Amino acid sequence: MLAIYPGSFDPVTYGHIDVIERALRIFGRLVVAVAHNLEKTPIFTVEERLKILRAVTREIPGVEVDGFEGLLVDYARRRGANVIVRGLRALSDFEYEFQMALTNRKIAGDIETVFLMPSEQYSYLSSRIIKEISALGGDVSAFVPDIVARMLKAQG
Ligand code: PNS
Repeated sequence: MLAIYPGSFDPVTYGHIDVIERALRIFGRLVVAVAHNLEKTPIFTVEERLKILRAVTREIPGVEVDGFEGLLVDYARRRGANVIVRGLRALSDFEYEFQMALTNRKIAGDIETVFLMPSEQYSYLSSRIIKEISALGGDVSAFVPDIVARMLKAQG
């Protein structure tokens, strides 16, 4: 079964990779789908994020990395997937995820959202905090794959 794991992945963290691995234990194939998000100011371009995600998932069988524009449910339908995977860390994620899942269900009742909890060692990680640590000159190597740490460093 094919599932879609959508997100900004700006940048991908060990928490995201943990969710990818968990999703693959349930769904045989997973498309990690990077959204061309209109309202955010990203640190990496979509192309850079795709490149990073491809590099860090190269050795995980069953993963495909792709970008998408427009509505997530339209993309899922185009790909023939009726499952969306999202990671749920803490209660603070819940409201936003609840809103998105139910909105998506309202506009596409045939697509189900499934939530997976990352390992507790990653449950406090967020791309936003990684960006902040990195922008302030901190070391993020415990939180993100090497390629991300290097590319963040290169951004100065
Ligand atoms: O990693 P993020 O930023 O929490 O991911 C949010 C994402 C990309 C899953 C969400 O913004 C999304 O689905 N965007 C695509 C546009 C869309 O379908 N919006 C309606 C969702 S209710």
